[in-house]
Amino acid sequence: MSPQTFVVKVSPKAPQKRLILTAAEILRRGGLVAFPTETVYGLGADALNAEAVKQIFVAKGRPLDNPIIVHIASAAELTALTSDVPEEARLLVKKYWPGPLTLILQKSPGVPEEVTGGLDTVAVRMPQNRIALALIKALGHPIAAPSANLSGRPSGTTAGHVLQDFAGKIDMILDGGPVAVGLESTVLDLSRRPPAILRPGAITAEDLEPLVGRVVMGRGAEAKKRSPGTRYRHYSPRARVTLVEPGDTPAMAATAQRYAEEGKKVAVVARHFGPAAKTNVIVRVMPEKLEDYARQIFAVLRELDELGVDEIVVEKTEERGIGVAIMDRLKRAAAR
Ligand code: TXA
Ligand code: MG
Repeated sequence: MSPQTFVVKVSPKAPQKRLILTAAEILRRGGLVAFPTETVYGLGADALNAEAVKQIFVAKGRPLDNPIIVHIASAAELTALTSDVPEEARLLVKKYWPGPLTLILQKSPGVPEEVTGGLDTVAVRMPQNRIALALIKALGHPIAAPSANLSGRPSGTTAGHVLQDFAGKIDMILDGGPVAVGLESTVLDLSRRPPAILRPGAITAEDLEPLVGRVVMGRGAEAKKRSPGTRYRHYSPRARVTLVEPGDTPAMAATAQRYAEEGKKVAVVARHFGPAAKTNVIVRVMPEKLEDYARQIFAVLRELDELGVDEIVVEKTEERGIGVAIMDRLKRAAAR
């Protein structure tokens, strides 16, 4: 049975109590509610209700072994979810929560295995968004929430994106406007030494190292085993994505031209692409500032899908700061 999906506008500054209580009641009954976080929209279920969590996998078409992040509203909730909170975690929590940092810690027996995909660890974060925090508090339980997108699609950064993917499949969408960061949280594995970044995000290795010492980038087979989500093709528009070196306008133009001549519908996504634009090529000029770029990229990829684009030629960004996370998502989108 597909529920009717209610979309309600909620004030991001002062979330209306009545709306939050309604959403919490839906979660309490085992329903699904999408809500904004500072990174991307999340598709939430009561983290302690295994049946409700299963519905997330159904709605997203998500592989069952891909674990879900548990969202909490106070650091005290960590004790019930984890068996061990190492000193590094305490330092990071103090500095970066609420914020776009997910910590992988040893799980306690109370966390349903549906949430953790059968792993002995649990991913936890405290989002920096008043709507999200109010919802978790009103439910009185942590909320399990993956990004609110069909499995493999770009994450939803507006309520409209969430509706595109889940109309008739979930109970409610809390529309708190566009998100602040635009890319998913940094995932840091603290269950091993040295700590490993399994997914780069707005909080970078340089941000983390002063507090926890050397941090490694979890890449390759080991990372796949540890973070099942990275196993799957991800963040992908339907169109094919080709990456071109930064500033190489001739290469972008030539690649776009070649696809156009093959009869493909082509788009170029670039920060530096001007007069070289060919007719018949859709151009999306991206912001110079990487933070602004990050906020917009998923929306642009979705929009190009809506336009029925076959080939997207994307200018790479520099890999520093949040650029590491941007390039991580672009490389995944380009993987085939
Ligand atoms: O910003 C975010 O993190 C957003 C918002 C909604 O909080 N959530 C999000 O969730 O991006 P999701 O499910 O799309 O991505 C979670 C990632 C996946 O790659 C998953 O495999 C990994 O975190 N993960 C979850 N639990 C894990 C665990 N116990 N060990 C290793 N990786 C884990
Ligand atoms: Mg996701």
